[in-house]
Amino acid sequence: MRPLNIGLTEEQRNGVIELLNKDLSDAYLLVVKTKKYHWDVVGPQFRSLHEIWEEQYQQLTENIDAIAERVRALGGYPIGTMEGFLKNGTIKEHGGDVPTATGMVARLVDDHEQVIRNLREHIDRCSEEFHDEGTADFLTGLMEGHEEMAWMLRSFIEGQALEADGSQPATERKTPVGV
Ligand SMILES: [Fe+2]
Repeated sequence: MRPLNIGLTEEQRNGVIELLNKDLSDAYLLVVKTKKYHWDVVGPQFRSLHEIWEEQYQQLTENIDAIAERVRALGGYPIGTMEGFLKNGTIKEHGGDVPTATGMVARLVDDHEQVIRNLREHIDRCSEEFHDEGTADFLTGLMEGHEEMAWMLRSFIEGQALEADGSQPATERKTPVGV
């Protein structure tokens, strides 16, 4: 391959590519989880949540493509296997249960917040450690998108009654069904 001559060393590019592949993995895990809840949700807020999750998985799908293509633009290869996404991502899966609508929202808020924290750290590293302001700017845009998605989801559960012990409402049904 013709070597890239874009003002970044190979080491800098590889460092950035590694971070982008971690963000790609989390975006993939999050899109799967968002779709699952879009399919499974029941209750009085069915329509709103079903629709908001459709919008969000579409946005996440666009993000996935943009992250993968940025990896290519920097001379790397995006991860493209489920095994790879699971190994490189930080989002936790919860196979085998179907939470209540509130539980689904709470879990996704946690996931978006996790991604926001990761992105914030990656932005700093891209800028300070790898001197790649382009990727820092790109990740900043992604982070702002997750901040907005988290806010929309948070708005569904804020103001809801807390359990007697002050905790958030129960997130699990007694009898788990589905995977
Ligand atoms: Fe759908």
